[in-house]
Amino acid sequence: MSAGPQPAADALVLFGATGDLSKRKLFPALYRMEDHHTLNVPVVGVARSDWSDEAFRQHAHDSILAAIPEAKAAVIESVLARLDLIQGDYADPKTWAVLARTLKKHKSEHAVFYMAIPPTMFPTVAESLASVGLNERGRIVVEKPFGRDLASAMELNRTLHAVFPEERIFRIDHYLGKESVEDLLVFRFSNTLLEPLWNRNYVRSVQITMSETIGVEGRGAFYDGVGTIRDVLQNHLLQVLALVAMEPPVGPDSSFLQDEKAKVFSAMRPIDPAAMVRGQYVGYREEQGVAADSSVETFVAAKLEVDSWRWAGVPWYVRCGKGLAANATEVTFEFREPPSLLFDEAGGPTPERNLVRFRLGKHDGVTFTLQAKTPGQHLDSQQVDVAVDFAAALGERREAYERLLDDALAGIPRRFAREDIVEQTWRVVQPALDSAGKAGNSVHPYFRGSWGPAEAERILGGDTWYPPVATTAASANASS
Ligand code: BG6
Repeated sequence: MSAGPQPAADALVLFGATGDLSKRKLFPALYRMEDHHTLNVPVVGVARSDWSDEAFRQHAHDSILAAIPEAKAAVIESVLARLDLIQGDYADPKTWAVLARTLKKHKSEHAVFYMAIPPTMFPTVAESLASVGLNERGRIVVEKPFGRDLASAMELNRTLHAVFPEERIFRIDHYLGKESVEDLLVFRFSNTLLEPLWNRNYVRSVQITMSETIGVEGRGAFYDGVGTIRDVLQNHLLQVLALVAMEPPVGPDSSFLQDEKAKVFSAMRPIDPAAMVRGQYVGYREEQGVAADSSVETFVAAKLEVDSWRWAGVPWYVRCGKGLAANATEVTFEFREPPSLLFDEAGGPTPERNLVRFRLGKHDGVTFTLQAKTPGQHLDSQQVDVAVDFAAALGERREAYERLLDDALAGIPRRFAREDIVEQTWRVVQPALDSAGKAGNSVHPYFRGSWGPAEAERILGGDTWYPPVATTAASANASS
């Protein structure tokens, strides 16, 4: 059951305030919150950089404009007026005394502490917060990567739990903040049409693709220590999978939702390295910060299995990577074919399989791929797409980081990852991590702009990957 409502925060403390995440995601999110009147607290940046207050405000200003060129000057000014910067070494007790004093000045009792810093610094920061008593009531927001494997994730959980109870640890997976991803939950459980079909009796296979055209874009040094399995498979992809695989939660409470996800992962077999293919785009080893002989993957495809009453025997094919042919995040449910009697006897081709495809990236929506009669005398069918673009139909969505920061300040845990789920997802990918680079599991090269190495077809056992639906086709259908 729920631990009960948490008090709204009265201050936001940003560790790593001059870093990359703050620049790309957090300042723009603060701007949007200010614009939507949901940012009502002081924002205290903490950083080791030796910056003046003025330089810090200018940096925040520039970060907002870089992400939102049309940002309104008055709204930016209101954000800047909330900012304070505390400079100091995280290992220096003085930094923490100043932070405690600053929060007191703001009469803050329930601050949110956002860790936009490397995970190696989490223990120091958590313990230092405790040293000045700031852990007693505040909440802590922790960014991914949450560990490097099962053992380190468990260790990190132990470290944080020594200082904060689980209900006050908010682990970010920004996919959980995306409206398109949350719509998987809403779409599934607000349409009775799907439920009778949503099981092993009707579903033949499921494919999940997360493809990016970009390479590592200046993050080579970080990426080369991580790879695709840790970067997106263990977190974003498995979270998406859980939302389409899980049973209906018994209520809206966060713990009910988390319980159902946990059941999916409990029923999921750890990845079989023999049913996984890792790839690396040609040119990756020349990226700055990447080892010249790197065997880190920039692509992975794997077959997963969920041994539940609903899904036993249905293959879940997942693939994700960088330097691929398109930007797309899609979930495709492939249904079994109908008995072909009518068509066989009439001499026509067997109808193609129906698909339900959730598009989760830009222009998110859903596409039903169905069969309809081909014009003419014959009883033939052909494929038609019934598609909707949700932004066109319903209006623009809010950004993930804005929604997550809103929730963290309000104390709503639903869109954050619970301890047991994070550990379960590491358990699922652990054999993939252990086998990477070992005999039979080297990385296969692929060219940028392709769909990854040809070997990725192997895990489909004779099937092929569905190319993601072109968004233009989807919107053309939606408006026709
Ligand atoms: C991040 C990964 O978590 O997600 C990046 O570290 C990846 O490598 C990004 O590019 C993708 O997020 P989005 O929201 O652009 O799909």
